[in-house]
Order: sequence, then C-alpha cells, then structure tokens
Amino acid sequence: MTTPRSHTSPALPILYRATVADNPRVPHYFDREPQAASQPRPVTLRLPDLEVRLTSDHGVFARGGVDRGTLFLLRRGPAPPPSGEVLDLGCGYGPIAITQALRSPTTRVWAVDINGRALELAARNAASAGAANVVAIAPEDVPTGIRFSAIYSNPPVRIGLAMLHPLLVEWLDRLLPGGAAYLVVHRHLGSDSLARWLAGEGFATERVASHDGYRILRVQPRTAVEDDR
Ligand SMILES: C[S@@+](CC[C@H](N)C(=O)[O-])C[C@H]1O[C@@H](n2cnc3c(N)ncnc32)[C@H](O)[C@@H]1O
Repeated sequence: MTTPRSHTSPALPILYRATVADNPRVPHYFDREPQAASQPRPVTLRLPDLEVRLTSDHGVFARGGVDRGTLFLLRRGPAPPPSGEVLDLGCGYGPIAITQALRSPTTRVWAVDINGRALELAARNAASAGAANVVAIAPEDVPTGIRFSAIYSNPPVRIGLAMLHPLLVEWLDRLLPGGAAYLVVHRHLGSDSLARWLAGEGFATERVASHDGYRILRVQPRTAVEDDR
C-alpha cells in the first residue's frame, strides 16, 4: 500500500488516478528507469526487534522515510517462516525483504521490483544490513519453479486494478499449499474491495490486523478446482 500521506490526500485518489497514474509522462515510483536525478537519502527503519539504516532515493517509493503501511505490516504481520522461499512483491529500496531476511536468516527472500533504481538500492541495503539471504532481482528473472512459503507485500495499488489484479494472481498462484501472503493496503486505496475480489477469485482472504485505515490481508492459496469438461 501506499500512504495517502506521502503521495496525495485520501480525498483525491480518483483525481490522482486520472492525472498521474494514467499519464505515462508523469514520473511514478514504479517507473522502470526513474528519470529524476539520483539524490540518496538515509532512512532508519526502527522496529521492536531490530533497527536498520537504509538508503532511499528519488524515483523510488517512500524516499526519506519508511511508509506507514510498510511499518504496520512489519510490526503487526506474522513472523516469516523459519525456512523456505519468501517473496517481497514490489520491494522498493527493500525494507520488507531485509527485515524478514534478518528475522529468518535461513529463508531465501526474493525482493522483486520493476524499478531498476529500487532493485539496486535493495541489493545494496541488504548487503550493508548483513542480509545475505536477500536476492534482489527483476520479477521475470525469478526461476519459474520457485514456490513461496510466504509473501509479504505493500503492493503497487497505484498501477491500477487492471494491472494489479493479474500481478497479484500471478504471484499468489506460486504460494505453496499451507503458505500465505500478507498484503498491507489502506482502505482509501481499496483494501476492502481488493479483499472481496481476491475471495471471488478463490483465494481465502481475511483481515488479520487493522489500524488507522491500514489493513493487513492474509491471502491463502486457492485450491485447484477439478475441470470436468
Ligand atoms: C507501494 S510500493 C512498496 C515499496 C516497498 N516494498 C516499501 O514498502 O517501501 C510498491 C512497489 O511495487 C513496485 N512495482 C510496480 N509494479 C510492479 C510489478 N509489476 N512487479 C513488481 N513490482 C512492481 C513499485 O516499483 C514499487 O516499488
């Protein structure tokens, strides 16, 4: 999720979508190669169990501070599994992937993003934080056979539902049986309708935490349906 605070007022999501998200000439945090000049800025991620110094930059989501939704997910979401493959879908400069990797050093955490500058930062931040089990990589480079025990994501809601829905389904269908995805989305950005949509697609979805408009959704893999045709 994105913070209404950092990008636009909660009262303006439709205007935002019409003027920014649909206009390819306007820079977005999800641009593949941000045009804004690089101007790195330090960020301190403080959680009850760890504190990490990270670097953010222009053209990357939440420059200069950790997003409030991300913080909520890391504070209130469940701990990562002890082993296996974990995914951070839309890693940005890496706060989610790095935290979960440090919390569970025997997992491998795939940090994927389409934004090249974000991926470079995530890789460098992981190295400086000592999170050697983070693999920062373009989504298409994750080997097709990899299946995830857990997915943690502050998903790119602002890309629009037409792109978000297939993106989520693509990765959720790579959850192992018994695995789960934890998505943080603000209600002003459609968390509740997203939960209903996911349930309608066959993914058992429930709200496991809620605070200040942010919801953490637990999404379970859909069970295969026999096709009798
Ligand atoms: C809301 S931001 C969250 C960033 C980071 N996880 C954080 O919490 O600060 C969503 C991220 O998804 C990325 N993104 C957009 N489209 C994507 C796609 N198709 N595949 C993977 N990542 C994508 C954006 O570039 C952005 O970095």
